[in-house]
Amino acid sequence: MTPVLALSRSISRTISNDFITAWKQAHPEDTVAYRDLGHHPVPHVDEPWIAAAFTPPPERSPELNEAIKLSDALVDEFLAADCYVFGVPMYNFNVPSTFKAYIDQIVRVGRTFAVNEQGFEGLVNSSKKMLVITARGGSYQQGTPAATYDLQEPFIRAIFELIGITDITFIHVDNLTSAREQSLTSAREAIQEVVAHW
Ligand SMILES: Cc1cc2nc3c(=O)[nH]c(=O)nc-3n(C[C@H](O)[C@H](O)[C@H](O)COP(=O)(O)O)c2cc1C
Repeated sequence: MTPVLALSRSISRTISNDFITAWKQAHPEDTVAYRDLGHHPVPHVDEPWIAAAFTPPPERSPELNEAIKLSDALVDEFLAADCYVFGVPMYNFNVPSTFKAYIDQIVRVGRTFAVNEQGFEGLVNSSKKMLVITARGGSYQQGTPAATYDLQEPFIRAIFELIGITDITFIHVDNLTSAREQSLTSAREAIQEVVAHW
């Protein structure tokens, strides 16, 4: 369970929670699987994980099966979802390492992407939509000099497009250092747009 204090401090949690609340009002029959990577980080991949990921399942030893068990569960959870909502702070122009660790666990050859003669092939159903709500102290709007420092949106687009998800919407809750209230208001308006049009 997420501590209330963290929800009220954290902009990415607060705004993604606002989205889920608005979505559930519009779609009360939908269920939400919630994962807080900040409070409950998943491990980084390690040598046994790599050995297991590149060993065909029938040939894995019990140790290799154990090493890849959590990743398999995370992939299963990811593939079972109909759509995705990520709340992602910007850390040093990119995603937090906790989110990167999660991506390393779910971007798996043979499970979420394949390599064939044409190159990479995403194995996730391409009709699935993704919403990414970022929280940023500064602003990195396209067309401004600061845009080149935004390594977050290009990375997220590239890695999820690799596994097949191309319909990705971003809501950047930016300028939180200098214009917090205005930014929160804009984000909440953007949420209503997404709920109405998804
Ligand atoms: C370790 C760290 C690194 C950060 N790096 C950046 C940055 O590169 N650019 C930026 O605009 N804001 C940066 N920030 C500000 C956060 O993006 C901002 O406070 C955001 O609201 C954090 O998300 P949260 O409120 O959900 O915790 C950084 C904050 C922390 C704690």
